[in-house]
Amino acid sequence: EWSMKNFVDEQVEEIREQVGEKNVLCALSGGVDSSVVAALIHKAIGDQLTCMFIDHGLLRKNEADSVMKTFGEDFHMNIIKIDAKERFLGKLEGVSDPEEKRKIIGNEFIYVFEEEANKLKDMDFLAQGTLYTDIIESGTDTAQTIKSHHNVGGLPEDMQFDLIEPLNSLFKDEVRKLGTELGVPDEIVWRQPFPGPGLGIRVLGEITDEKLEIVRESDAILREEIANAGLDREIWQYFTALPNMRSVGVMGDARTYDYTVGIRAVTSVDGMTSDWARIPYDILEKISTRIVNEVNHVNRVVYDITSKPPATIEWE
Ligand code: XMP
Repeated sequence: EWSMKNFVDEQVEEIREQVGEKNVLCALSGGVDSSVVAALIHKAIGDQLTCMFIDHGLLRKNEADSVMKTFGEDFHMNIIKIDAKERFLGKLEGVSDPEEKRKIIGNEFIYVFEEEANKLKDMDFLAQGTLYTDIIESGTDTAQTIKSHHNVGGLPEDMQFDLIEPLNSLFKDEVRKLGTELGVPDEIVWRQPFPGPGLGIRVLGEITDEKLEIVRESDAILREEIANAGLDREIWQYFTALPNMRSVGVMGDARTYDYTVGIRAVTSVDGMTSDWARIPYDILEKISTRIVNEVNHVNRVVYDITSKPPATIEWE
């Protein structure tokens, strides 16, 4: 009889058999799929697994620390953090086109991963959190399935690794159950989708440190208030974006000329279509007040009330 417990036992057995005495490398992003795959493989082979977490400098507030704590300290995994912020931001300097930014971030991710993986000795296997739906969508052979557009975790196909993809018979809801079974914390198991290019496509136009800081801080406030209101599982995805515009405001006796922050919050099943979330006005008010008061250089907050289509969920 199929049960999650039996699935874990079977997979653990299979992974041990496949890996033997060899070593496995896993690119851990902190997202649901890569986290669950890492937890499963760690359960099977412990220290023969090494996880690599690349911080591209476009993550949300506290994200890197929280991934390192969960997997390094709580799970006791071998996990290496690569701080590549300067490198990514350097490459992105002066670039404002959304697709160009995506391409740069995606390519750079592969280069950094390759360079760092080559420094590690004796890595024979590469673990990937490929799901059943990823295989169907791409319509290709399992071993070649690299999530390209929708995942910066997409890795080079010509690397000298054998792939391990233990989630490739599962749907997303089953991966969440598996994660819970393996002790992966709720905040990861129920994490909202976060795009591979991260805050890089939420700062509209050219990316600067100052703008990243505005998006990061306003997003943290939004997430905190959505959680306080108990809406975090109801709303499919919610974040702030920084349009490349400033407007006039007034603070005390003085005129200000500062940035506008946009709030995006949507309900959806799979991200293909979405509707804007009907967040109660008093919660929107609290979020708006906090963002203007607590985030420097913001004097206006707007709420995005477009569905997808015609708008997309992200603003870039
Ligand atoms: P859009 O903006 O196309 O987003 O309505 C649909 C879903 O996909 C996510 N998204 C991305 N994820 N890399 C990703 O890994 C990307 O370049 C990317 N663009 C959008 C978006 O966050 C939403 O969940």
